[in-house]
Amino acid sequence: MTTQYLGSSHTERKALMEQRRRRDRTLTNQAVADAFAVDPNVDPYALSLDDIDPSNPEYFQHDTHQRHFERLRAEDPVHYHEFSMFGAYWSVTRYDDIKYVDTHHDLFSSHWSHGGISINGIPEQGTDETQRLPMFVAEDPPKHDEQRRVVTPLFAPNNLAELEPLIRQRACKILDNLPINEEFNWVRRVSVELTGQMLATLFDVPQEDRMRLIDWSDTIGSLSDPDEYSSPEEGFKKLWECSDYFKGYFEERKKMPPKFDLISLLAHDKSTNEMDEREFLGNIMLLIVGGNDTTRNSISGGVLALNQNPGEYDKLKQNPKLITNMVSEIIRWQSPVIHMARTATQDTELGGKTIKKGDRVVMWYISGNRDEDAIPRANEFLIDRRNVRQHTAFGYGIHRCVGNRLAEMQLRVIWEEIMKRFSHIEVTGDVKRLRSNFVHGIRELPVTIRA
Ligand code: HEM
Repeated sequence: MTTQYLGSSHTERKALMEQRRRRDRTLTNQAVADAFAVDPNVDPYALSLDDIDPSNPEYFQHDTHQRHFERLRAEDPVHYHEFSMFGAYWSVTRYDDIKYVDTHHDLFSSHWSHGGISINGIPEQGTDETQRLPMFVAEDPPKHDEQRRVVTPLFAPNNLAELEPLIRQRACKILDNLPINEEFNWVRRVSVELTGQMLATLFDVPQEDRMRLIDWSDTIGSLSDPDEYSSPEEGFKKLWECSDYFKGYFEERKKMPPKFDLISLLAHDKSTNEMDEREFLGNIMLLIVGGNDTTRNSISGGVLALNQNPGEYDKLKQNPKLITNMVSEIIRWQSPVIHMARTATQDTELGGKTIKKGDRVVMWYISGNRDEDAIPRANEFLIDRRNVRQHTAFGYGIHRCVGNRLAEMQLRVIWEEIMKRFSHIEVTGDVKRLRSNFVHGIRELPVTIRA
């Protein structure tokens, strides 16, 4: 059997895992990346099942993760990984099991003090400041429900209908300014622009500051990336600037009559107007990352998927009415949130396995979305798919994405405007992907639009 690791020995990696569990501050991102370096193109079927570990961010960076999940779904859909760079965890890879975990919040906690919602989280004594940010996605009832209720009205259908003309106007402006016959990065010029402008609107902060919001959101996504920061703590320092920035608006809006923006809503509700500085930063980061990365990557992912499936692009050209349906298919296909993690609150059974109280459980949404037992022809991108909204990408249960209709609307509007203008957007360069097992991101998508 082949091993997936290229670097140090098993004993050395074990020592490093322990160092990480203790939150040893001398541990650098580079040391972890080196010790757990894998051949991203390794054949998962050449590994022993115990050696499979889909959590390694390199597989996502190189877009080679799907076959690892395919094997797990087929051979051990609820699989215990004793050993990974994030410690021990259970992988849940099938659609039905993911739905079960997500809808049983009494059995599977999201709480930050247990390790929270990312595989990066380490329970209790080892948890460091980069993980111990309270935010409502990483809370359980009743606090979760109270805080979620505060922001929900902003995403209600009547408010979204009011936002649509503004989104359309911006989409038109962005598209009308694109270069023709010249290669450019679609991510920067279109995906980031549209979602960045939306974010500034949701918070009602000056549009000129939108790139600062994007920069903070990107920081969260790359805290463990050795190419960006030497340690998560170093990246984290930057986030306090974000807290200071929003604190000013928060205090100001507390004194003003309530308005309909995220900061004002938070400032005027009793469950969110007295947050300490960590919880304040946590909830702001949640709303920034939620409202930005995910939609951005779906906009880029759609262009890529259509290029990789020219037959589907032809279908769209012949019938642009398919756009609404296509939007959901793009979100399923891209699965912009790769996973959400939970912690078992008691011993419980799942897929014939006994999960012990305190065990970390990872729901791989990106795998559930390719589960052929639940979604017919799941490994094909089909813009006219039936029951297309039946996907795992927005999660289920009490944490189901609060912004899902806003995301779908932004995607629908940008595609409607694209189809009015351009006969074809061609991917003409190498795609660069994010090194992350949480956000399924595209950093660079070089495209050319021909005259
Ligand atoms: C295609 C775009 C999007 C995808 C794929 C996505 C995905 C998700 C997922 C998987 C969850 C967790 C679900 C669970 O644990 O069951 C979530 C929660 C959340 N999302 Fe989204 N999201 C998207 C867009 C947005 C937008 C535009 C916003 C607006 C700010 C947003 C804000 C949130 C918030 C606040 C939560 C926490 C909800 C809670 O804990 O109750 N998301 N999203």
